[in-house]
Amino acid sequence: MRFPAYVLTKQGDSITGSVDELDESALRPGEVLIRVEWSVINFKDAMVTVPGNRVARAFPLIPGVELTGTIVESGQAGLSTGQRVLVQGYDLGVAHHGGFAGYARVPAEWVVPLPETLSTRLGVVIGIAGFTAVLSLHQLVRHGITPDSGPVLVTGASGGVGSTTVALLAHKGFEVVASSGKTAEHGYLESLGAQRVVGRQFTAPDGRTLGPQLWGAVVDCVGGATLAEALRTVRYGGAVAASGLTGGNELATTVYPFIVRGVALLGVDTVATPIDERRALWWDMAEAFPVGRADDMVSEEIGLGGLTEALGRVLRAEVRGRILIDPSR
Ligand SMILES: NC(=O)c1ccc[n+]([C@@H]2O[C@H](COP(=O)([O-])OP(=O)(O)OC[C@H]3O[C@@H](n4cnc5c(N)ncnc54)[C@H](OP(=O)(O)O)[C@@H]3O)[C@@H](O)[C@H]2O)c1
Repeated sequence: MRFPAYVLTKQGDSITGSVDELDESALRPGEVLIRVEWSVINFKDAMVTVPGNRVARAFPLIPGVELTGTIVESGQAGLSTGQRVLVQGYDLGVAHHGGFAGYARVPAEWVVPLPETLSTRLGVVIGIAGFTAVLSLHQLVRHGITPDSGPVLVTGASGGVGSTTVALLAHKGFEVVASSGKTAEHGYLESLGAQRVVGRQFTAPDGRTLGPQLWGAVVDCVGGATLAEALRTVRYGGAVAASGLTGGNELATTVYPFIVRGVALLGVDTVATPIDERRALWWDMAEAFPVGRADDMVSEEIGLGGLTEALGRVLRAEVRGRILIDPSR
């Protein structure tokens, strides 16, 4: 069987991408062969095209850190031919051939059967950003946070992770306060369920080590000074789920939120999430995701031939919304 694939090759310091026709034997080992229906560009896919990057660990490489499609061959009980599935994270698209191709072969323990209500297209629209949102909420719930704990602040709220988090929390009955630097998106965030929208600086500077106890919990997609401020203003016994670093990867804080207010800082990692937890959370997602909003999150659909140009735009931050890849185009 032959199929098209977007392949990155490395020569010296330069990395180039082109659409090639490959034979099935070019795929890496795995128990499950999938006909790819959709993939989507994540920032990490653009990173693997940058010379000197430390993200890609094998060349030649088919990028694409997430994909959905239909199983055409499976050597694993519970995963059968014809089943619609999703794969994201682990080594996909960084050390193992990923989703920018007509077919993918992957280890069975990376495969998530898609809940019946989610199409393969919707699976990639929700994607890693949506999964980060559901995992952040799961971390808070596991810590004992409920709607009675108080308002939940979501930072970086207009972004992919933030906007899905706002919608999920509102759907689950939490009072959501969205923090966003984009005034133009305030109405959108309210329409997703935010009861209030505040700017990026969500407390007035008071020079104190601990700030006012405002939030029952925080979902922080920003990091840096924003995460420090979240820790300073979360209520006694509350928690902060931290996933992002758009505002910086350093954290300057004190021990006081932890030792005076018993605050918990909960890490969110979507790459190596154990597969049983990932599968269960996708079922949770199927029930809570605002499906009517899905098309608002898509900016365009392209074929493999449009990838070089589109990946460049993602690197230059010129894209809003998700670029879906249909390898059959
Ligand atoms: N932990 C994981 O496994 C995991 C998985 C997926 C993503 N992530 C990370 O999560 C973060 C969010 O991802 P995303 O897909 O939602 O990204 P995104 O769509 O680019 O959104 C990020 C948001 O952060 C805010 N922001 C940007 N620059 C900022 C700055 N300098 N200071 C404060 N806020 C700033 C903006 O929101 P406003 O304009 O509304 O303020 C922006 O929309 C990223 O850092 C990403 O790498 C982590």
